[in-house]
Amino acid sequence: MNHAELFQKITQKKEFSQLPKKDVELAFEKFDKDQYGDEEKVKLTRDLLRKVFSVFTSQKILNIKDRDEDAKSKRILRRPKLNPKFNSNEWILKKHLSTKERLPYYEELYSKLLKDFKKSVTIFDLGAGVNGFSYKYLGNVVKNFSYIGIEAMKQLVDLMNYHFKQEKINGKAIHESLFEIVKIKKYVKQVKGAKVIFLFKTLDSLEMLRRNYSKELLRELVPLVDLVVVSFATRSLVKRTKFKVKRNWIVNFIEENFDMLDDFELGSERYLSFRQAST
Ligand SMILES: C[S@@+](CC[C@H](N)C(=O)[O-])C[C@H]1O[C@@H](n2cnc3c(N)ncnc32)[C@H](O)[C@@H]1O
Repeated sequence: MNHAELFQKITQKKEFSQLPKKDVELAFEKFDKDQYGDEEKVKLTRDLLRKVFSVFTSQKILNIKDRDEDAKSKRILRRPKLNPKFNSNEWILKKHLSTKERLPYYEELYSKLLKDFKKSVTIFDLGAGVNGFSYKYLGNVVKNFSYIGIEAMKQLVDLMNYHFKQEKINGKAIHESLFEIVKIKKYVKQVKGAKVIFLFKTLDSLEMLRRNYSKELLRELVPLVDLVVVSFATRSLVKRTKFKVKRNWIVNFIEENFDMLDDFELGSERYLSFRQAST
């Protein structure tokens, strides 16, 4: 098979069919080597894509919008408010491993992180997953917030946008790869006022596709905003065992290049908040 045919085969699987091309290419590059046959290249690339993108998400939420649309078209649901179960933020937050774990801590977390932004702020949530569904907790802390989630899985982007529109939330989700640094910077620069970037449990995913990309991304983005918060799981999201890694590489990098403001653990997550160093 040639390159295009292999690419097509990899993305035939529904869960990978709407990923940004760039991310699929980066995964494929790792296995596009003579030592692997075509079937192996496809399998290994899919295994890696699953680890980076879809392992956290229950199939249930990947199909919600389709289901609602389907129901609407069959006129099963006559009311504009669709099935309340599928509109419940908590229900959706529990269907993604990252947000499920964070659910009991959102109030404490957002009050701690956003204490200096009580009047207004724009949150850029990079590698958002379904974290946009936690807007209720943002609203408890910040009077006027807007939320911009950037995420590679289009199904999650559609789900968030569908919900934001229904509930008239000042938020939007954008389908984009975080490897498209020029585009990401443009989104951030377009917004005026106080800005905060969340990178919750996302740097590990980026590192799986391109080593040391986290540093490049932070160097570009930190100067554009007032605060950046990165987090890491302290337990494996899938196996639930405690990680032994200490992540000194990123902690040292942040301490050397930026002003570290806080470093704390809440639930099974370690958060580092920092900003551009004052000159
Ligand atoms: C472990 S999940 C964390 C989700 C969310 N930040 C949270 O903590 O609730 C990592 C997320 O990053 C997304 N992601 C990984 N690589 C990405 C990339 N290159 N561009 C955009 N999103 C990406 C994945 O699809 C996934 O939703």
